[in-house]
Amino acid sequence: MSKEGPSIEEIWVTIQEETEKRVQAEPVLASFFHSTILEHDSFSSAVADLIANDLGSSSVQPMLLRSVIKEAFDSSKEILKGTGSDLLAAKERDPACKYLSEPLLFFKGFKALQSHRVASWLWVNSRHTLAHYFQSRTSEVYGVDIHPAAKLGEGIMIDHGTGVVIGETSVIEDNVSIFQGVTLGGTGKEDGDRHPKVREGVLLSAASTVLGNVEIGKNAKVAAGSVVLKDVKEHTTVAGVPAKEVGEAGTKRPAHDVDHMIEGK
Ligand SMILES: CC(C)(COP(=O)(O)OP(=O)(O)OC[C@H]1O[C@@H](n2cnc3c(N)ncnc32)[C@H](O)[C@@H]1OP(=O)(O)O)[C@@H](O)C(=O)NCCC(=O)NCCS
Repeated sequence: MSKEGPSIEEIWVTIQEETEKRVQAEPVLASFFHSTILEHDSFSSAVADLIANDLGSSSVQPMLLRSVIKEAFDSSKEILKGTGSDLLAAKERDPACKYLSEPLLFFKGFKALQSHRVASWLWVNSRHTLAHYFQSRTSEVYGVDIHPAAKLGEGIMIDHGTGVVIGETSVIEDNVSIFQGVTLGGTGKEDGDRHPKVREGVLLSAASTVLGNVEIGKNAKVAAGSVVLKDVKEHTTVAGVPAKEVGEAGTKRPAHDVDHMIEGK
């Protein structure tokens, strides 16, 4: 393993090894584990298959989506790198995540992020309609609605997923953690660049709403249920409606250390 963490190949070997053991522990899921993980020869093939099967519909066959996802993976190394770092983020930050394969198989937030990575690639390659298909099916299937033009970094965790909405001109930098019910939206009073800019290492707690082209500074925390309408300084915690500064974010990396605060998961 390098200093930057495990490679995609190392992640894939771990996933396969742990899945072999889980087949024996839970025979009811044996064929599920085979078709989703063990029959694949690469991480990218498994990811493409899982997302395509979830997002296919009566009029768009999973097989067609699979080839689009593979095309995206083949033409941009950044996409798979992002997928690997999102997987590690979920494993490291979510105490409920016991296996590396769990986000891939079961976590809506993780799968929605990977679908967005493909939609974003389609968007920048001017395939806007197909990008919107991915956005729309991701919203229906995983409950996460991310505009394909939104710019997301790496090592993002969207925990639980349900009810997350991320608008068109939003920017989310690396290593941000986002819980269910988060909205990054416009105020309805601005056009053009009208969505939040979330800097590195931020924690956006459950059901927090950030509106307008405001900046959430590096390593800040937004408390559960807050409505943020103004810029938030680096390393501070804001809470309430409208959100006000309530203290310093007590940790250097709130998004990473989120698991220490959440009990009973
Ligand atoms: C904001 C949060 C991350 C704690 O951050 P923190 O920097 O450690 O803040 P503190 O706990 O020291 O709280 C600072 C102040 O804000 C208040 N506060 C904290 N969370 C608040 C919230 N959601 N709404 C309103 N006020 C809040 C505290 O009561 C405290 O006020 P006081 O100084 O008058 O006592 C935490 O309260 C939170 O919202 N966690 C949610 C995580 C989550 O989404 N979990 C979902 C799991 S499914």
